[in-house]
Amino acid sequence: MIFKGKTIVLGVGASISAYKSADLCSKLAQEGATVYPIITESALKFVGAATFWGLSGQPVSTGVFEEAFGPSEIAHLRYGELADVIVIAPASADLLARLAGGFCDDMLSAVVVANPGKPVLIAPAMNTHMWQNPATQWNRRTLERRGYIFIEPGVGRLAEGIVGAGRLAEPAEIVEVIRETLFPRRDLEGKRVLVTAGPTREAIDPVRYITNRSSGKMGYAIAEAAAARGAYVTLVSGPTHLPQPAGIAEMYRVGSAANMAEAVFARSDAQDIIVACAAVADYAPTATALQKIKKSGDADFAIALTPTIDILKELGRRKRPGQILIGFAAETENIAANAEKKLHEKNLDLIVANDITKEGAGFDTDTNIVTLYQKQGEPVTLPIMSKRAVADAIWNKVNENLLMPNR
Ligand SMILES: Cc1cc2nc3c(=O)[nH]c(=O)nc-3n(C[C@H](O)[C@H](O)[C@H](O)COP(=O)(O)O)c2cc1C
Repeated sequence: MIFKGKTIVLGVGASISAYKSADLCSKLAQEGATVYPIITESALKFVGAATFWGLSGQPVSTGVFEEAFGPSEIAHLRYGELADVIVIAPASADLLARLAGGFCDDMLSAVVVANPGKPVLIAPAMNTHMWQNPATQWNRRTLERRGYIFIEPGVGRLAEGIVGAGRLAEPAEIVEVIRETLFPRRDLEGKRVLVTAGPTREAIDPVRYITNRSSGKMGYAIAEAAAARGAYVTLVSGPTHLPQPAGIAEMYRVGSAANMAEAVFARSDAQDIIVACAAVADYAPTATALQKIKKSGDADFAIALTPTIDILKELGRRKRPGQILIGFAAETENIAANAEKKLHEKNLDLIVANDITKEGAGFDTDTNIVTLYQKQGEPVTLPIMSKRAVADAIWNKVNENLLMPNR
C-alpha cells in the first residue's frame, strides 16, 4: 500500500492506449491511493467512464461545468486541493497542445491550469510522426520548462503496425515515477557525485572539429537523478544543447578531451562517486591549424591523430579506497565481452553497457536499453525505459550493492 493516504488525479487523453490507463488506475487504487479519474470527451470514445468509476470508486469527470463534488464546490479547484499529484496517462498530441497553450475548455486542462503548484506527470502516447512533429516537441519543451515531468514514451509496436517511438510507458514505470514524485528518495544525501556527459570536440582548425553523436541526455539524467536523491552534484559537460539539469550544485562546460580531463582531475579526489558518461574522443588532431585549412585538391588529404588521455583509466588508477567509479560502454558488437574487459582494465565498480545499434538505445534518444555489469554477480539487463528511469535504476544499484555502510 505505497500510496495509502495519497490522492492522485488521473487524466486520460484520447489515445488508443487509453485502455492501459485502466490498468494504471487499478494499480494505483490497489496501492491505497484515492484516484479521481478525469477523462476527456474524446477519450470516452476509447474507454468507458464506468470502468474507471468501478476501479477507483470515485466519480469520473469530463466537462468543466460538471459538479463532481456537488453544486457548492467548483470542481476544477477542488480537484487541485485534493490532489497530491496530477498524472496524465495517456496524453494525446492534442492535449499537450491544449496544455501548452493554457486552454481550460475541459475539466482536465482546467485542473492543470488552475493549480500551478501541483506536480504534474505527463505520459504521452501517439504515433511516431505525431510525437516527432516539431509542434508536439515544442509543446513538450514548453511544458517541461513549466516544471511538468514527462514520462518518456517507449519504442515498440504501435497500433498502426509500425515500430517506433510513441508507445505509452508501461503502467509499472508510471507507478514508479509517481512513487519517486510523492516520496523522493534521499539516499545520496551527503555524497559528492561528479558526472561527465556529452561529446568532446577536437579542433582541426578554427572552424572544424572532430566530435561524435553523444547528446549528453544520459549523463544529464544521471546528474539530475543524483541531485534529486540528495547528492552534491558536479557536472562536467562537453558541448550539448541541453539546459543545466535541475538541482545540481556545479556545472563546467568544456570543449576538448584535454579540457575535460583537466576539469575532472581537478575535482576527482573530493568525490564519493564518479560517473563517466561522456563520450570522450579517443584521438585528437596532432596539431590544430592556426588558420582555416584551404581546399588543396589533394586526393588523399590526411589529418594526423594522436591518442587523447584516457580519463576513465586515469580515474581508475587514482581511485582512492571507498570511492566508486562507474563507466559507460557504447558498443556496436560483442557488448558483454567489451564491457567486462573495460570493467576490469579501468578498475571500475560498475559499467553500464548499451548496444547503440538497437532502436530506442544510444545517442540522442530519450530512451535507453542497458545492461549493468559488476565484478561480482550476474549482469542485469533493464527493459527499454526513459533515460531518467535508467538513471534511477543505476542509482538504485549503487545503493543496493556499492554504497555499503562500511565502505
Ligand atoms: C483510432 C484513433 C486513434 C488515435 N490515437 C491517438 C493517439 O494514440 N495519440 C494521439 O495523440 N491522438 C490519437 N488520436 C487522435 C485524438 O484522439 C484526437 O486528436 C483527439 O481530439 C484528442 O483528444 P484529447 O485532446 O481530449 O486527448 C486517435 C484518433 C483515432 C480516431
